[in-house]
Amino acid sequence: MIKTSISILDCDFNNLQGEIKKINLTNANLIHIDIMDGSFVNNNTIKKFDMDTLSKYSNKKFDVHLMVDKPENHIEKYITPLTKFISIHLESKGDINKSLVKIRESNIKSGLAINPDSKISDLHKFIDLVDMVIIMSVYPGKGGQKFINKTFDRVKELREKFNNIDISVDGGVDSSNSHKLISNGASILVSGSFLMKSDNINNSIKNMLKEW
Ligand code: DX5
Ligand code: ZN
Repeated sequence: MIKTSISILDCDFNNLQGEIKKINLTNANLIHIDIMDGSFVNNNTIKKFDMDTLSKYSNKKFDVHLMVDKPENHIEKYITPLTKFISIHLESKGDINKSLVKIRESNIKSGLAINPDSKISDLHKFIDLVDMVIIMSVYPGKGGQKFINKTFDRVKELREKFNNIDISVDGGVDSSNSHKLISNGASILVSGSFLMKSDNINNSIKNMLKEW
């Protein structure tokens, strides 16, 4: 089954509770939480996401995307009963191996995200420690950016090599690119602006997944 993960990076943080309740009513499988530290990327969202509020109101599992340096020091905070995935970045300054092991030892699925200009083959040496790869289809740092077309080939390249991992695609994903992403091997679609700005989130999810 193809899963959808809804990014709340650009939601109304003054009304986080209301936004979560709105998402609870949809068919999205996961809530994608974008954590930025002001070092790995310029933006800083660490204080924006209150895990207690999210845990209190969400009926969806969390898909935590850490865009941070030294990920090994951030993981702890996002280990909650609702956390299904924690992903770190291949390019982050820090201990990738240690971080992936720490995530798995906490009984959470481990993810490794890769930026648009990094080589897919650079992931290979970590693959045994990884349950999911997030292929970034925009440069990380903000929502609402344009999907980078070379992502299609990158998804295919990774899927041809590895059949037993989740492949997630993150950034600018909508119903105009989702079908090709799925046929090339993506199993999780992250979508922020397309879903959160839509009048009918369930219809938009349906359009993203049509025929699948
Ligand atoms: C980019 C984030 C993405 C992004 C998704 O740095 O990791 O999760 O916010 O939002 P859209 O779908 O608007 O690109
Ligand atoms: Zn993300």
